[in-house]
Amino acid sequence: MPVTTTPAPRPPLDPDRLAPPPGWRIEVVDEAGSTNALVSERARQGEEEGLVIVAEHQTAGRGRLDRVWETPPRAALTFSVLLRPAAPSADWPWLPLLAGYAVQAALVDRLPAVALKWPNDVLVEERKIAGILVERVETPSGPVAVVGIGINISQTLDELPVALATSVHLEVSQSPDRTDLLGQVLGSLHGLLGVLDDPASLRAAYLDVCSTIGREVDVHLPSGDVRRGEALDVDSHGALVVSSPDGAMAVNAGDVIHVRAT
Ligand code: BTN
Repeated sequence: MPVTTTPAPRPPLDPDRLAPPPGWRIEVVDEAGSTNALVSERARQGEEEGLVIVAEHQTAGRGRLDRVWETPPRAALTFSVLLRPAAPSADWPWLPLLAGYAVQAALVDRLPAVALKWPNDVLVEERKIAGILVERVETPSGPVAVVGIGINISQTLDELPVALATSVHLEVSQSPDRTDLLGQVLGSLHGLLGVLDDPASLRAAYLDVCSTIGREVDVHLPSGDVRRGEALDVDSHGALVVSSPDGAMAVNAGDVIHVRAT
């Protein structure tokens, strides 16, 4: 990874080239605390599926497990999509994994060795380049899913929040056109949504790009407990199956750290 301290040019998104998938619409805001919060609020007010809000500068982004996700102006793609999945509630836990798969698929032609850490951290050689937060929101017309995606585009090393993070610019010495990439990620997500009805196919596709399976992992559970074991599989509900002294356990939520290859 080249070491760069000078930011690459950071042009704004081009409103004339925004390309939402059929039935979706994109709103760009200069600044927002959290695009997930904005889309959740619009959903509660009755907004239809397909609203996408992109923030040129997100100042209080929400991450998984109550973390924050902040990025300098126009240095990242930070956006949220409102979905009302038709799939049965039992299959909704697949949505975060599907979103990770969609982002991986949109990035794979631009980045070498882009893979997923369960459930949906997008990594390049163990460094995180994109994160996804899917929130279920209750609205007067039923539950919706808000899919929030943050992709590091042109951050320099000293603009990244943790050592094990990276940006597209750091990896390949050039920043992709954010307007194009936004269209590609949305197209990928839109195209894959139908697969939510077929979790077996989704599971097979997901396992192909998930680098967690076969690794020794530390699982930080929401309770605060940490369990070490080998990541064996992803089950039919999207849970990570990890070996333990008492037999295999299924992990539905938690933070996974790749310890080393087993
Ligand atoms: C993670 O912790 O890895 C998930 C990070 C998700 C960040 C994105 S940025 C756009 C959207 N709005 C938010 O407030 N969070 C998500």
